Amino acid sequence: VVDEHHEHEYEERVLSYSLPSSSSSPSPSKRRPTPFQQPTQLTTFSYTPTRDLVFDNSALKYYVEPPRGAKLDYGYERWVRRGLEEEKGRLDSLLRALEKVREGEGEGKERVRGLGVVSWRGVLTKILTAPYGEERDAWELNVMKVDETLYFEEFVSDAKAKEKQNMNPRQSMQTYYGYAFESYCTADTPRRSNPDATQGTRVPFGWSGDVNNNVQWCSVVRTKLGNTRILIGGEVDCVREKYTGQPDTFVELKTSLTIRGAHDEARFEKKLLKFYFQSFLLGVPEIVVGFRTPGGVVSTVQTFRTVEIPRLVRGKPGAWDPVQCLDWGNRFLEFVKESVEECHGSRARVWRVGFSPGEGVRVRELNETEMAEVEAGEDRVGFLPGWYWRGLAA
Ligand code: A3P
Ligand code: MG
Ligand code: MG
Repeated sequence: VVDEHHEHEYEERVLSYSLPSSSSSPSPSKRRPTPFQQPTQLTTFSYTPTRDLVFDNSALKYYVEPPRGAKLDYGYERWVRRGLEEEKGRLDSLLRALEKVREGEGEGKERVRGLGVVSWRGVLTKILTAPYGEERDAWELNVMKVDETLYFEEFVSDAKAKEKQNMNPRQSMQTYYGYAFESYCTADTPRRSNPDATQGTRVPFGWSGDVNNNVQWCSVVRTKLGNTRILIGGEVDCVREKYTGQPDTFVELKTSLTIRGAHDEARFEKKLLKFYFQSFLLGVPEIVVGFRTPGGVVSTVQTFRTVEIPRLVRGKPGAWDPVQCLDWGNRFLEFVKESVEECHGSRARVWRVGFSPGEGVRVRELNETEMAEVEAGEDRVGFLPGWYWRGLAA
């Protein structure tokens, strides 16, 4: 249902959404489900410990079996977090990767022709999982359309970015557990190079080094949802055994509280929705979950094949249907496509797309004050870096 009304001098468009309730539609929808193309990797890049962007695989890690009973609070005092700037979902490094592919030899240009959307994986995960969102899962995007391509960046207000940085000690420790698990599960080679290296020291067995959130290895893939070609960039935690240049050996690492009853199980099944789409979007075939105690000790480790997850949750209390998400995602993209207008000449136009669970999507154009906020006094046209914008015009 598309309903239009006017507010101030800016037009606002609203897309409401609805999911067929499980009782009213026992059979899957009769329409053909929205197709999603297997993601193909175009390039990769790494961030160094000092957060420099490099076009190599220096931050690529291999999966290794984590030790049972691993303590996830180890090294907390030495945790290096990412800076406040990184909370803003700027597209800069993804655009550098895109430019590199475009200018690459041979078929590079061909492989990024006709892109409908350019976005980080985290944003697309939020979009696709929105139908099952709860109150706290509201989000906002900044959107620009240039030469028929939509660029999405998450809009994180200054207040929200600060809030994210100032977690309470409990939240902070729980977040750290996830990164510590990554340290226990990864190594620079497919096998732990020297299992005895830590003997006689205070470093726990299997610990591969202190956590530095600046370091990331990212994959940039091309895929297609419905009729929309999409370029997606996202972090990949590690690869299993060998790196093939494609996502087929990628592994996503997760931690979760050990399941002790039906209630926990339903909660975990709900969480699997996010795990699933996060991995699905980059073509990551395997998710390794470390189940932990509330105090951060790994009790069991379980591997999930991404493609099998929807079947695992079907008919369960925490059930969700990926077909609904893809249909919704497709409708969302079509709606945004027709709601935002092209940037022409040197005039940037940025649109804010907001999603609230239970309400739907709202699109409106930013005013001058908001535009200044988005450009942040930097060399930008809207939120696109100046160098990228000038490259498009050239
Ligand atoms: P867990 O997922 O094991 O909790 P990712 O799983 O996406 O690779 O992210 C690695 C870790 O970053 C997560 O580990 C979690 O600790 C932290 N993290 C990721 N997204 C987060 C978010 N939205 N809020 C808080 N922490 C987050
Ligand atoms: Mg990760
Ligand atoms: Mg992970």
